Amino acid sequence: MSQTLQTTEATTLKTCCAALYESDWARLLLGESFHPGGLALTERLGELLDLGLGRRLLDVAAGRGTSAIFLAQRFGCEVVGVDYGAEMVTGATALAEETGVADRVRFEQGDAERLRFADGTFDAVICECAFCTFPDKPAAAAEFARLLRPGGRVGLSDLTRVGSLPSELETLLAWITFIADARPIGDYISYLEDAGFVTDRVEPHNAALAGMIKNVQTKLLGAELLVKLRKIDLPEADFDQAKALARSAAETVQRGGLGYGLIVATKA
Ligand SMILES: C[S@@+](CC[C@H](N)C(=O)[O-])C[C@H]1O[C@@H](n2cnc3c(N)ncnc32)[C@H](O)[C@@H]1O
Repeated sequence: MSQTLQTTEATTLKTCCAALYESDWARLLLGESFHPGGLALTERLGELLDLGLGRRLLDVAAGRGTSAIFLAQRFGCEVVGVDYGAEMVTGATALAEETGVADRVRFEQGDAERLRFADGTFDAVICECAFCTFPDKPAAAAEFARLLRPGGRVGLSDLTRVGSLPSELETLLAWITFIADARPIGDYISYLEDAGFVTDRVEPHNAALAGMIKNVQTKLLGAELLVKLRKIDLPEADFDQAKALARSAAETVQRGGLGYGLIVATKA
């Protein structure tokens, strides 16, 4: 019974997370790339993963497909992007066609914790700003290991926390799901190592998170102005709450309670 409840809760969480990132709000505040550091940090991951012509890359929780398409263009690799959200997949597929890479980049709907590909299908796996949202993190890490060939690499970038978050950020969890289950960087390393990976590299990129929050704060002010001028319509928007939460997140990053980290590890 409790197993069923847990499964239902986990499914609800994944559905809410996908819906949040499919919303106009997410696009307005975050643009097309939903992770701190944007494509510059994605390129860094691509270099550390040794991507190149003919390599097969899996992008887990690919969002709008921006990273997958960029990596295919920049490194010449083939990419499969998987996301829980059906609209994400439709949008990413259209973008791959528009940008002329549909012959080597495709997207499909799937759950990071249970993917349909055969063992050893990929040379590399990336997962940007999404691992922290997966309810069953050991299952997702085990899937990364199963899908990689021996010697294949995983590149993870994600939100990190030190200690507990201030209470006002616990409410932020309700609407910015990607903070919901952020862990200390050591926890992410443990998940990967428990799944059979050897850690190659760990890098802090806290400034990228600070920059992203600053950007969101600027966009919130812009959106509020546009709503006041009746140039756009956002009936559900509570700008005071959103600004207070963004301010609290910025302060927590500045204090070192919240950060962003990159981990690259090799399948033993
Ligand atoms: C913060 S966004 C990151 C998107 C993309 N990686 C990027 O950096 O732009 C988180 C993404 O995770 C996806 N997601 C959440 N849970 C998932 C799951 N269990 N399996 C696959 N995708 C999932 C959401 O739909 C959303 O697109």
